[in-house]
Amino acid sequence: MTNILCIGAGYVGGSTMPIIASHCPEHRVVIVDINEKRIEAWQSDQLPIYEPGLDEIVRQTLGKNLFFSTEVNRHISEADIIFVSVNTPTKMFGKGAGKAADLQYWEKTARQILENSTSSKIVVEKSTLPVRTAEAMERILNSNGNGLHFDVLSNPEFLAEGTAVRDMQNPDRVLIGGRETESGQKAVEALVELYAQWVPRERILTTNLWSSELSKLVANAFLAQRISSINAISALCEKTEADVSEVAHAIGQDARIGRHFLRASVGFGGSCFKKDILNLVYLCEHYGLPEVARYWEQVVAMNEYQEARFASNMVASMFNTIAGKRVALFGAAFKANTNDTRESPALEVCRALLEEHADVVITDPHALENARYDLGELAKRVTFELDPYVAAHNAHAIAILTEWSQYTELDYERIYKSMIKPAFIFDGRNLLNHKRLYEMGFNVYPIGKPPLTRLVTHNQA
Ligand code: UDX
Ligand code: UDX
Repeated sequence: MTNILCIGAGYVGGSTMPIIASHCPEHRVVIVDINEKRIEAWQSDQLPIYEPGLDEIVRQTLGKNLFFSTEVNRHISEADIIFVSVNTPTKMFGKGAGKAADLQYWEKTARQILENSTSSKIVVEKSTLPVRTAEAMERILNSNGNGLHFDVLSNPEFLAEGTAVRDMQNPDRVLIGGRETESGQKAVEALVELYAQWVPRERILTTNLWSSELSKLVANAFLAQRISSINAISALCEKTEADVSEVAHAIGQDARIGRHFLRASVGFGGSCFKKDILNLVYLCEHYGLPEVARYWEQVVAMNEYQEARFASNMVASMFNTIAGKRVALFGAAFKANTNDTRESPALEVCRALLEEHADVVITDPHALENARYDLGELAKRVTFELDPYVAAHNAHAIAILTEWSQYTELDYERIYKSMIKPAFIFDGRNLLNHKRLYEMGFNVYPIGKPPLTRLVTHNQA
């Protein structure tokens, strides 16, 4: 039996480790966190994150070979392999503020591992970290005078929220980076063995530490770049009567381009994309590559433009004023099937509409609590409403900001009747049947397609 420990019971640790536990019944998996409420929630009927399929796996493994705890020190001393998935937010102070990763939790965790270890261990970086972080970790961990040896591995997560269980059960690849020393390679092999319990060996890639660390940032940068690229084209489509969905389909049929991640939208959100790209930008600057830094920075700039453009199109289309008008935002989560609102474009749009003094009401099936928390002081000026019909009642406009499938099944005739006329729908996800909505009487504004409106004064910003 191997004692596996994960430090950090957030989205990453909390969705990865139960799946490891379920596939490796002979090993013991413990997840620790400093946040007591979170640890309690993981052991309750109401998990702290909404992730389809995860409840079932936690229920099957909890108390058998999966355990949650706040006793970090004790579990460190018992562990053979320690996964670290504490958060690494963007640093908000000092050198690299706004771009570099804030590694204080990581370093604190490394020191805690050192202080509580009486045997040699494998330490696995699960959090996304800047390239060469492992070097600093190795230095801290191996600075002990008691003969212990720590092998640091990089094993980035590639799971997307909402499909985390599926991604982890059947990953495109698992990436493991380690030192090219004998003990480094032994550690890599131990982790390969763990994943090989359910992942075909040809999908388990092993690289050097730095390639693995960098690949995580690059994978996210490439994914985000595709969205920013199609979103840039969506702006052009709106000017030229081209249809961005048709363009995406046409280019995606080329196998060299591929059809995934070409959905034009109000913008990308989530805890990773922006943070990881800014991290990449910082690294490029640090290594004296300003041109490379500027190239990647533009992916984030385009995303901010897309969010701002969406909000200003709303204002422009609604006769250049939305002050005092009720506007219903359908969706707060940064994507469907999660309760996560970190960097959600929905909240960016909300902030922009509040600037214009709109009367904003947000509805979402799972993310209202997080939305309220993330909006901070501004939350006082927003109404949170679980029922989309109530949210839309007496509204001038609806903006679809998260692609929840529930929103495709609503009775829009009923919604239309309850709204102030002219009634507007701004579809930030191109989710709905625009022609049908137009026929019902709505003025419909998709992303990257000609608007369907009877209003002659339409004036796109
Ligand atoms: C985060 C980052 O967003 C992601 O990019 C990175 O790859 C891993 O860390 P996530 O799991 O989504 O992923 O973060 P979060 O939900 O904030 O969870 C981190 C957890 O670590 C929190 O529950 C926090 O309480 C815990 N933590 C943090 C500790 O247990 N100890 C610490 O010292 C710091
Ligand atoms: C991402 C990566 O996909 C994952 O591999 C990594 O481990 C963590 O970061 P995640 O942020 O959970 O995962 O979600 P993802 O599905 O990548 O979506 C990110 C954002 O892009 C969402 O706001 C989504 O709505 C948006 N998106 C995605 C688009 O706007 N268009 C698309 O075509 C795809």
